[in-house]
Amino acid sequence: MSVELSPPEISYLGEDDADFFQNVDGRILNTLNPRYMLPVDRDEVKRSELHHRLLQFVFGGKNYIGPVKEALQFGEHRRILDLGTGGGFWAIDMADNFPRAEVIGIDLAPIQPRLRAVPPNCTFELCDLDQWNIPYPDNHFDFIHARSVHCGIHNYPQLLREITRLLRPGGLVLLIEPNLTPLVDGKSAGDSSSDSGLRGWLTLWETYRACLTRKGIDVTVPECLGNHLMATKSFERVMVQDGNIPVGFWPSDPHLLTVGQLQWMDYELFLPALRPLFLSFGMPQSTVHRIIADAQQDLYHPSVPLSARLHIVYASKRY
Ligand SMILES: C[S@@+](CC[C@H](N)C(=O)[O-])C[C@H]1O[C@@H](n2cnc3c(N)ncnc32)[C@H](O)[C@@H]1O
Repeated sequence: MSVELSPPEISYLGEDDADFFQNVDGRILNTLNPRYMLPVDRDEVKRSELHHRLLQFVFGGKNYIGPVKEALQFGEHRRILDLGTGGGFWAIDMADNFPRAEVIGIDLAPIQPRLRAVPPNCTFELCDLDQWNIPYPDNHFDFIHARSVHCGIHNYPQLLREITRLLRPGGLVLLIEPNLTPLVDGKSAGDSSSDSGLRGWLTLWETYRACLTRKGIDVTVPECLGNHLMATKSFERVMVQDGNIPVGFWPSDPHLLTVGQLQWMDYELFLPALRPLFLSFGMPQSTVHRIIADAQQDLYHPSVPLSARLHIVYASKRY
């Protein structure tokens, strides 16, 4: 099977990988899971890198928050799993940080760098986390990380049960999900009816949430991460941390300004990436074009400061 891939994507692909990609409305999408309709192409890999750098800033230069070193300090063979690894940036950095640990990144699409660009203790596997059991034995991993992946998971509690099975007792899980409702002037913005001057921005997020809901995705997962994890009754020392991420160039603090710039660049790539999802619901091209263009207008010229909310949970599996 051949798919039309523009030259930049080809550098990411092995010879046998074409079956995992399809061209939909000018963007490359995965073929394993039709529910996940964000692209898996070069722009999306770039966005995954921006997201990774942003979180490194948020975590003070580290790739994680929580007692990761403790979880990885004992034993000969330590194992780390990254679910929905995207471009594999987190997995590669973790493999460099912990050269004696084995790091595995799993994704729907083979968009991670190939052998020579990857440390020897890092590998990537294809798997649809939403359909299949993750193909590793019980108690196999010391640390499991799942970041910005819930939009491709229709049964998030089931994914948490799989994570529980895969973690060894005492092992650590770190879940990070951005909220799907934006913040306007520091406050949660429910819908586009309020006269905030950001109607385009709010309409786009409202449309995104509606499309995901119709695809069977629970859009409240990010704000309920801690509750979902506690419902498994398998974790202790559950830490829930929520934070606001500035979007754009308004912060005066230089650290926050960098975070705001990175989030702005992420969103600049994210808005056009929603096109295939919106079109898949039969919306006319002109409507989709207008929703995205109006949101871009608000991103480029916001009338009030924009932010996003990030939800972070980490916990240890009970002995
Ligand atoms: C927004 S990206 C985030 C990538 C990375 N975790 C990060 O934080 O930069 C979401 C990734 O999750 C993957 N994904 C979504 N649903 C998935 C599923 N059901 N099974 C495996 N991977 C999935 C996508 O292919 C995509 O690469």
